[in-house]
Amino acid sequence: MRIAEYPLPFAEDALEPFMDARTLFQHNRKFFVGYQTQLQAALNHFPILREWPEEYLIAHIRALPGGIRRAVRNNGGGVVNHRHFYSVLRPGGPHPIPQPLADVLAHRFGSLMRFKEEFASVAAGRFGVGWCWLILTEEEIYVGSTINQDNPLMPHADIRGVPLLGLDLWEHAYFLCHENRRPSYIQAFWNVIDWDVVYARYLHGLELRAQHALLPVLTEADSQLLEHLRKHGSVPEAEQEGEDT
Ligand SMILES: [Fe+2]
Repeated sequence: MRIAEYPLPFAEDALEPFMDARTLFQHNRKFFVGYQTQLQAALNHFPILREWPEEYLIAHIRALPGGIRRAVRNNGGGVVNHRHFYSVLRPGGPHPIPQPLADVLAHRFGSLMRFKEEFASVAAGRFGVGWCWLILTEEEIYVGSTINQDNPLMPHADIRGVPLLGLDLWEHAYFLCHENRRPSYIQAFWNVIDWDVVYARYLHGLELRAQHALLPVLTEADSQLLEHLRKHGSVPEAEQEGEDT
């Protein structure tokens, strides 16, 4: 787990006029770094958990020691969500949706237009801060939203599955460019989505689902480790020795 100050593979002004450089600067270097820093601080007493992928951590919040669950939910979620968000952005204006994915969305929602309308409606309807998602579950594809920095991978998510496309609905993501007009920001979002990434996520999710491994499964060894952490507040001696070698 390493703090990345600038995870975007393009310049901060590359998404203008849809997302402005000042917003991306603040978003990356202040908020994203803040979530990473606070997650690392929360794991100070459990450095072994810093080695775990953040997606794995947030998928198993309920098995973590009670004292770090809230921090992992908020800041681990912040790390995973923003990394996801940045991964689905792309400069250069609107890009076509790969036809197989367009067909899937049109079949599921009635038409591509209806899919976009539902996504925009759910995003606009999220009260306060949160995220809007396109989610692949064990059964279907859904549009849903989560509060704060929650993620569909989390065990308490209303729609639990793998996020394919996520939109940050915190005002820090759009206020400088769109002021308080969230619908304007949602409309702008369609112009900066990297649909190739979304499609790749979908195909990967289908593979995982076919293997009955759509959601991260806690290994037996990790389950025992977390049980020990919850009971004793530290890693077993054997694990500590292993870390030093
Ligand atoms: Fe954000």
